[in-house]
Amino acid sequence: AMRRPLVLANWKMNMLPAQVQPYLDQVIPEVEKDTAADVAIAAQDLYLAEMVRQSSQSRLMIAAENAHWTDDGAYTGETSPKALAQVGVHYVLIGHFERRKLFNETDERVNWKTKAALRNGLKPIVDLDEDLTAYEGDDASQVVLKQLAEALDGLTETDLKDVTIAYEPTWAIGSGEAASAAQAEKSAALIRTSLANLYSRELADRTRILYGGSVTTENAADFLSQKDIDGILVGKAALDPEKFLELIDIAQ
Ligand code: G3H
Repeated sequence: AMRRPLVLANWKMNMLPAQVQPYLDQVIPEVEKDTAADVAIAAQDLYLAEMVRQSSQSRLMIAAENAHWTDDGAYTGETSPKALAQVGVHYVLIGHFERRKLFNETDERVNWKTKAALRNGLKPIVDLDEDLTAYEGDDASQVVLKQLAEALDGLTETDLKDVTIAYEPTWAIGSGEAASAAQAEKSAALIRTSLANLYSRELADRTRILYGGSVTTENAADFLSQKDIDGILVGKAALDPEKFLELIDIAQ
């Protein structure tokens, strides 16, 4: 396949210091052996530098869950994308549903943050979400495609080579009720067609699109076998290192 699958754990605001080390001890040696999938963990900022240090000889990549849209300045409580890049963080989640819903993340800010990440050499994972009314209705595409176009506004095809798109139905996040693989594929395919329209077929064909929302070791294979789904964004199930390793295996 032209697109390498990405298995991305999102710890969110979970994991206490005492839980981080055993998790990494279990996961890092296994990730060394893997070749067919990219593997990353998104964690709270305070763990990132140490995670980068410990994973530096492995294939595990480290992700931030958010970053500011400027490189530095008087923004108390925010994290600089430039600092994240210099610490060795590889990816950054931009516009996760929880940030959009709970922290006022607008499409405009998602766009600024995506640009700031790219400017600093971080690879953005741009999250699009789709609510239940959109999912059940004919306008499913509109919600997600509007977010896509606004997130990428002003970005060139060259910029896009470092961008991954993640698609999450809001009602599937943390609910235990995943989308069906067929429905997720339908949305992923729409996103890919939209990328072709916005850029080119070639760009669309090489851009990774992830599915997120109640992915488990039971349903992961269904998602990963879909033509337009190139990886999984996993919250709850990936808090257990055993399950995360299983998910990585499934993606190979
Ligand atoms: O970033 C992860 C997604 O929001 C999915 O979370 O696997 O707990 O549903 P979940």
